[in-house]
Amino acid sequence: MRRIYLDNTATTPLAPEAFDAMKPFLTEKFGNPSSIHSFGRETRSAIDESREQIAGLMGTKPGEIYFVSCGTEANNFALKGYSSKMRERGKDHIITSKTEHHSILETCEHLENNGFQISYLNVDEFGMIDPDDVRRSINSRTGLISIMHANNETGTINRIKAVSGIARDSGVIFHTDAVQSFGKIPVDVDELGVDMLSISAHKFYGPKGIGVLYISSGIEIERLLHGGGQERGKRAGTENIAYAVGLAKAAELICGERASENKRISDLKNQMIKILKEQFPFILFNGNPAESLPNVVNISFDSRKINIDGEALLMNLDLAGIAVSSGSACTSGSIKPSHVLIAMGRDIDTAKASIRFSLGRSTTMDDIEYTMDVLQNIVKRIGVIKG
Ligand SMILES: Cc1ncc(COP(=O)(O)O)c(C=O)c1O
Repeated sequence: MRRIYLDNTATTPLAPEAFDAMKPFLTEKFGNPSSIHSFGRETRSAIDESREQIAGLMGTKPGEIYFVSCGTEANNFALKGYSSKMRERGKDHIITSKTEHHSILETCEHLENNGFQISYLNVDEFGMIDPDDVRRSINSRTGLISIMHANNETGTINRIKAVSGIARDSGVIFHTDAVQSFGKIPVDVDELGVDMLSISAHKFYGPKGIGVLYISSGIEIERLLHGGGQERGKRAGTENIAYAVGLAKAAELICGERASENKRISDLKNQMIKILKEQFPFILFNGNPAESLPNVVNISFDSRKINIDGEALLMNLDLAGIAVSSGSACTSGSIKPSHVLIAMGRDIDTAKASIRFSLGRSTTMDDIEYTMDVLQNIVKRIGVIKG
């Protein structure tokens, strides 16, 4: 059966070039980077080079790059690490948004349970926060703002520069979750004006199990793991050398091909949107049509016009060999609509009848046209038009 992977926002396959770069560090080059002998020096220089490479691609210095195990860890490290330091200075208020990834929202919930005040900002119909809302929410106790760069469900891109300017003027530290944006749009920490920024390798054809938290020098942050002196004493534990090498190689590749690949993928996305508009009069597009990642198309079947079950849609696409994500999640046996789509104002039934297509390196025009044909057949079979 033909298989089409349109879930590149969930994860991407490892680039063969990244795998080749990693292999020696999974086999013959096994020294501990903390050892002073030649075996250790060999892996020490590999990790140093990887740190330099990724720092260069993010417009920062190697001393501001912290290797962690994933995007979730980077987000936890940023929020928990900085909040415990800011509390020492009498700051206990954090600003975030309602459409953040769960690794931010649940960390905020944890901090709330530990005495912090959290403001969860609303978004507009396209899923964007209003920088003026950030300005209005800052008070004398605000120490940290965390607003995502691009949303993982809709691809909507927030105005990070505007928010970072407000944060800077108010003396508040600003973190952004750039897990979805890195490699797809420019992510330069100076240009964005951020103090902390998270990325994760498996979203850009690197290995699963490694990410980076950028922390601007001068920002005091509580250490994440106690033990040895790795990651400048902030995250102890013998370094994951092969994965750091793989992350750096994958980052170099994706940043190098960004311009040409964005053009190719945008053409595919535009064609997909054109077919969807022509063939499905009862769908709504989720996300900002102008400020959005080039590879994400998120649609809802409007519950006022058609009855269709999002999970059934996803299952039927899967049976036809097509992998996508739905706008809902199964939590404790019940289907919950996406918190992102609800925050954007979609009703529960419409939010549940949503599908996210995320295109990637392997996606072709034929994949898009084939998927649209299959979708048409499924909707005819399981959808019930109202009125
Ligand atoms: C926006 C965003 N932040 C954080 C994460 C978590 O990254 P990881 O899977 O590396 O923990 C994800 C993963 O889907 C994401 O999309």
